[in-house]
Amino acid sequence: MAGLDPIETASRDEIAALQRTRIAWTLHHAYANVAHYRQAFDAAGVHPDDFRQLEDLAKFPFTAKQDLRANYPFGMFAVPREQIVRLHASSGTTGKPTVVGYTAQDIETWAHVVARSIYASGGRPGMLVHVAYGYGLFTGGIGAHYGAERLGCTVVPVSGGMTERQVQLIDDFRPDIIMVTPSYMLAILDEFTRQGLDPRASSLRIGIFGAEPWTNAMRAEIESSFAMDAVDIYGLSEVIGPGVANECVETKDGPHIWEDHFYPEVIDPDTGAVLPDGEKGELVFTSLTKQGMPVVRYRTRDLTRLLPGTARTMRRMEKVTGRSDDMLVVRGVNLFPTQIEEQLLRSPVLTGHYQLVVSRTGRMDDVAVHVEARPEYRDPVLLEAEAHAAAARIKHTVGLTARVVVERPGGVDRSTGKARRVVDQRPRD
Ligand code: DLL
Repeated sequence: MAGLDPIETASRDEIAALQRTRIAWTLHHAYANVAHYRQAFDAAGVHPDDFRQLEDLAKFPFTAKQDLRANYPFGMFAVPREQIVRLHASSGTTGKPTVVGYTAQDIETWAHVVARSIYASGGRPGMLVHVAYGYGLFTGGIGAHYGAERLGCTVVPVSGGMTERQVQLIDDFRPDIIMVTPSYMLAILDEFTRQGLDPRASSLRIGIFGAEPWTNAMRAEIESSFAMDAVDIYGLSEVIGPGVANECVETKDGPHIWEDHFYPEVIDPDTGAVLPDGEKGELVFTSLTKQGMPVVRYRTRDLTRLLPGTARTMRRMEKVTGRSDDMLVVRGVNLFPTQIEEQLLRSPVLTGHYQLVVSRTGRMDDVAVHVEARPEYRDPVLLEAEAHAAAARIKHTVGLTARVVVERPGGVDRSTGKARRVVDQRPRD
């Protein structure tokens, strides 16, 4: 694969026509082969034949993470288990993990959309790609790997962790592209400095970051530290993994959804009503080509809005600011960690290494924002002043009174994959 797929620049009518055909196929495939969908459609009084135009999809029931858990491990598969060539699973912090399965054709599709994503990021055949997403049941590492190979790149399958070695390999192999979570990229950045290497002098020119929310402020931080283009890759295991949507490097204005494989809707999370493009709500996906585990109206819990295409005719999603599950409610204020991130990174002294600790004394919730300062700033008076200024910005923009605690470099918990942004110590009511 080199160059754009014709469908990436097709007219909206052509895209819609393809989506109609493919949704009809998915509904029939799911209904005929997955007991859960047959029961759910019957209970809602709908049949795949009721789908004639795109708006008809709204008649079909949603699928939620609970449905995948209830059918653990293989109950959502639409083909005999023997035709599934690969399993992945989510970490499952609460309860059982969610298992996803792929046919050989699904693996092809996935490699194809990730290759397309890397191409949209500016990647080209022949480039060297350092993959520092975790390999294993998590879809990040292997998903990125197959896509990079498909595009015709040379892949270095490093996985996450052993940060010192990551930097050594980057220095020695001189990759053009890195694929990693944005929070772990910051840890790699620190390690460059620790080893006395200038990150701007590194070979890295493109970073493809995702698997967790990150802000444009973080983009600016990474791009200026490394002299690279930082673009956003989005995806989730239930839908396929990384490569559901990807930003185009020429515009960096939110990921374009690969609408020929994944049909997006945005709904009001309370009523389930489909919202018009441009309105913010919960993102829902119907897979269009997946054989092994089709999903019909899968509720991602990610909050965003659909926007018209720019660099491609396919629609964009606004950068995800957070999941409904990650929304903190503190003293009546609703907030996402990314809102805090934006305010912290407005300071030249503070970094993107931060964690929110929420606790309760008596009946009062308390929020402490722990954030590392850059190593070159050590003056306690300056750090105290920066902490106060950041707290004031948070109060002003988010409406939350929080303590900002400046930590020494390395003082905030690191992760080699998805960062844990919130530690909620409040007793469960
Ligand atoms: O995180 C797949 C992935 C791997 C995407 C590598 C991109 C890069 P899950 O572990 O199933 O799959 O987690 C999916 O992570 O519903 C979002 O809440 C969040 N997420 C993924 N990408 C982004 C992003 C992978 N670019 C969940 N921005 C999703 C914000 C993201 N959140």
